[in-house]
Amino acid sequence: MINILEAASNLYHSNLDLKNFAKWPDDLVNSNLPPKMIPAAKLVENFPLSGTTETNPLIEAIKANVNLMHWKRTYTEEEVGHDLYNRYGYCELFGPEGHFSSTQLRGFLGYWGNGLDYDWHSHEAEEIYLNLGGNAIFRTKEEEILLNPNETKMHYRLQSHSMITHKEAILTFVLWRGKGMFGLPKMD
Ligand SMILES: [Fe+2]
Repeated sequence: MINILEAASNLYHSNLDLKNFAKWPDDLVNSNLPPKMIPAAKLVENFPLSGTTETNPLIEAIKANVNLMHWKRTYTEEEVGHDLYNRYGYCELFGPEGHFSSTQLRGFLGYWGNGLDYDWHSHEAEEIYLNLGGNAIFRTKEEEILLNPNETKMHYRLQSHSMITHKEAILTFVLWRGKGMFGLPKMD
């Protein structure tokens, strides 16, 4: 997992939006989380190297270490339906329950397969998404944008947002900061 953390750190330090969002945590301690597989992990292993020169090293590190990652799903199948439930997932790289513990910042690696509609949801923590590869439409009540690799999108505290993938899947690096950092998203 240290390879993924190093690639994530390199990417963070190359990206002004992420650097402006929060300081890189200096309290990271390896928590030796055991691997946990979900169906989407297999899809991540076959994710195309569809990022940029900045993001591809992290995509490669993730693909090479999929089997060491502790994959999770926030929602139940009843909440999001069979298809999304089986073609999405995330891993907490660092944070309160991450592979590397931190109480300063939370960093997730999130995957959604192609042709999925991730409906309106929100959370208390402020959030920034960095698209690593593939793409998706990111929606808030204010705007709707196509997020390309190495582009970011911020969501403020309790702001409703949703996401749609079309032809391509998407792999993302997501940071959470501030009040509610220890919580989880909820469907609206
Ligand atoms: Fe979010």
